[in-house]
Amino acid sequence: MFLAQSFVFSLLAITGLALPSNEGVKHNNMARSTKYAPKEPPLTTPWTDKVGTKPWPEYPRPLLQRSDWKNLNGIWKYQNASDLNAVDSPPFGKDLAQEVLIPSCIESGLSGIQTDWGLYSWFSTSFDVSSEWKNDKVLLNFGAVDYEATVFVNGQKAGFHRGGYYRFALDVTEHVKFDQSNELLVFVHDPTDDGDYVIPIGKQTLRPSHIFYTPCSGIWQSVWLEAAPTNYITQLDLDANMDGQVNVTVHSSANGTSAQAKVTVHKDGKTVATHEGPTNKPFQFTVSSPKLWSPDSPNLYNVTVSLDKDEVESYIGFRTISRGVIDGVERPLLNGEFIFMFGTLDQGYWPDGLYTPPNHEAMVYDLKVLKDLGFNMVRKHIKVETDLFYRACDEIGLLVIQDMPSLRPLQSVLPDAKQQAEFARQLDVLVNQFKSYPSIAIWVIYNEGWGQITDTYPEFELTDRVRQLDPTRLVDSTTGWVDHGAGDFSDNHHYANPQCGTPFYSTASSPYDPSRIGFQGEFGGIGNNVSIEHLWNNQAAIDTINQTYEIDTTIEAWNYRSHLLLGELEDQIRLFACSGGVWTQTTDVEGEVNGLITYDRRVSRVDEKQWKADIQALYDAAAARSSNSTRDSL
Ligand SMILES: *[C@@H]1O[C@H](CO)[C@@H](O)[C@H](O)[C@H]1NC(C)=O
Ligand SMILES: *[C@@H]1O[C@H](CO)[C@@H](O)[C@H](O)[C@H]1NC(C)=O
Ligand SMILES: *[C@@H]1O[C@H](CO)[C@@H](O)[C@H](O)[C@H]1NC(C)=O
Ligand SMILES: *[C@@H]1O[C@H](CO)[C@@H](O)[C@H](O)[C@H]1NC(C)=O
Ligand SMILES: *[C@@H]1O[C@H](CO)[C@@H](O)[C@H](O)[C@H]1NC(C)=O
Ligand SMILES: *[C@@H]1O[C@H](CO)[C@@H](O)[C@H](O)[C@H]1NC(C)=O
Ligand SMILES: *[C@@H]1O[C@H](CO)[C@@H](O)[C@H](O)[C@H]1NC(C)=O
Repeated sequence: MFLAQSFVFSLLAITGLALPSNEGVKHNNMARSTKYAPKEPPLTTPWTDKVGTKPWPEYPRPLLQRSDWKNLNGIWKYQNASDLNAVDSPPFGKDLAQEVLIPSCIESGLSGIQTDWGLYSWFSTSFDVSSEWKNDKVLLNFGAVDYEATVFVNGQKAGFHRGGYYRFALDVTEHVKFDQSNELLVFVHDPTDDGDYVIPIGKQTLRPSHIFYTPCSGIWQSVWLEAAPTNYITQLDLDANMDGQVNVTVHSSANGTSAQAKVTVHKDGKTVATHEGPTNKPFQFTVSSPKLWSPDSPNLYNVTVSLDKDEVESYIGFRTISRGVIDGVERPLLNGEFIFMFGTLDQGYWPDGLYTPPNHEAMVYDLKVLKDLGFNMVRKHIKVETDLFYRACDEIGLLVIQDMPSLRPLQSVLPDAKQQAEFARQLDVLVNQFKSYPSIAIWVIYNEGWGQITDTYPEFELTDRVRQLDPTRLVDSTTGWVDHGAGDFSDNHHYANPQCGTPFYSTASSPYDPSRIGFQGEFGGIGNNVSIEHLWNNQAAIDTINQTYEIDTTIEAWNYRSHLLLGELEDQIRLFACSGGVWTQTTDVEGEVNGLITYDRRVSRVDEKQWKADIQALYDAAAARSSNSTRDSL
């Protein structure tokens, strides 16, 4: 059996024939797909059982909301495909082998598949479009598909998208039939770190071990349809600053600038400003004495934008992120004042859903844990979240340091010219899609040299590019290690103790450069092995726990060590030029047991009273260095 099968495979390889992806179904058209049921993941969360079959009912795009929409999340069908050629023979009209939950990563228990082979996949569903939308454009939206998606509607190719973390919309008007069932078929190719592929993957790997985790493949964010008029708003770029100036670009499907867009700003049901401007180029207006946005008072204003017959809802927060010298030290400023940013390294991984949080409540739970302890920031680590995550940060009041998802780790496999160009293109997409969230304060380009070409210093050109696309944020060009002087930060990574803006440093991180902002992009990372009930129960992962920087055998010891490390950071704020820090990390993940809370979100290691006091002490130390009148004691 095994031999015969290998023989068939090698024959196909020789003749270059594609294995028909729908072979099993072809001869048995009436075959029913295996019913959806979640698979038991190696660890569950309090939300695993609450997911159900209608996940993520929320409108997925809070910065550009349309009222006429239809959620396509739910039970779809899935089938493994053999290779890239499968896309040339789509299984139109066929029942795929298994039911699958959308959105999900097909490697996750919640998907109902939990495969370890997510390279090539077919997904299908059917949907109705009401004839009420007959005079409209019908837009098919995907929150994110990892990594490449080829979309077919009613047997015709409707579009292709590359990039695992980004939203895309396809105008499928010409492909749909009204008041009838429409077939949606999606081919997904996700190489992760297979073969020669060097693509943005963050922490995903086909060979999970310790700090690298199970990959996510497929349609891992919401899918929805919406109706829009012929000339419709495709994107809104919004920035609102501490002086009340609002800078808006209303992008429209018709690219001309002649049509006028109307912007109305509301607060608590009252209109505070109305302005008209051209489409597809920036225009400005002012709101007088707005309530500013900050982590302590996350004031948001609702915005309505209309263009011809289109009308969308959005929002803004008035704040200014900048950089300034205070008492001789380079500092990040929020609304003109030094803000000491203190957050966690936040991986955004879930034992039941991997990249896809089980639900909105679960996603917000992590953020509330941080907010309650007094963190004012979260470093979204080499992953991009759903839009609803950033909306939650805007509402709760947590600044976001947003990392670009890294290419392959270390400098083991560097990108060639084409792969580097694709990395740069996706960095553009990241900044353009997410730059209107008020909470995002800093863009990170490279993490610890991963995928960073070192002979030509590409971080300088990429930094200029990010600043051109978004002049309102700071850029942390290289967080940790391979620093050649680009960007706004001199960012050290060191475990377990910090070396923030200090005259001492480690061989891996460059010495503090006083011409930029001194920052501790990662420290802490101390672990504690709670018990098997709260571990990712996978022997290979458990066998890597001993690679953690430091294991404290009791939770009391872990808190004692945390106290010392936070105290060191406080000293560095007081004595040197430390402007912010990132504690590793929010939760345990797979073989890492160094979270504030366990991977299942059921155990907190944190002595809350002690941590709250230690975090407050950081802000107090920073406040004492926050004005030009304080003596610089260095
Ligand atoms: C998926 O297809 C590949 C190639 O045909 C095969 O090696 C693999 O076993 C399949 N995996 C599953 C889970 O069906
Ligand atoms: C408005 O925003 C655009 C980018 O969207 C930027 O290029 C431009 O400089 C901004 N204008 C002002 C006055 O802030
Ligand atoms: C508008 O411009 C974009 C980007 O240049 C292009 O992709 C798109 O096809 C244009 N749309 C129309 C309707 O001309
Ligand atoms: C914005 O609108 C939402 C609902 O549309 C409402 O719940 C909220 O209170 C509004 N916020 C402000 C600041 O007006
Ligand atoms: C502090 O002093 C510097 C130069 O002496 C000046 O540029 C800066 O604006 C001052 N900052 C504040 C907050 O007063
Ligand atoms: C960690 O544990 C694994 C599995 O028990 C073992 O093979 C390895 O040698 C250990 N490594 C260290 C650094 O102790
Ligand atoms: C962690 O705990 C698990 C489960 O009790 C155990 O199997 C493993 O050996 C422990 N590893 C370390 C490094 O303490």
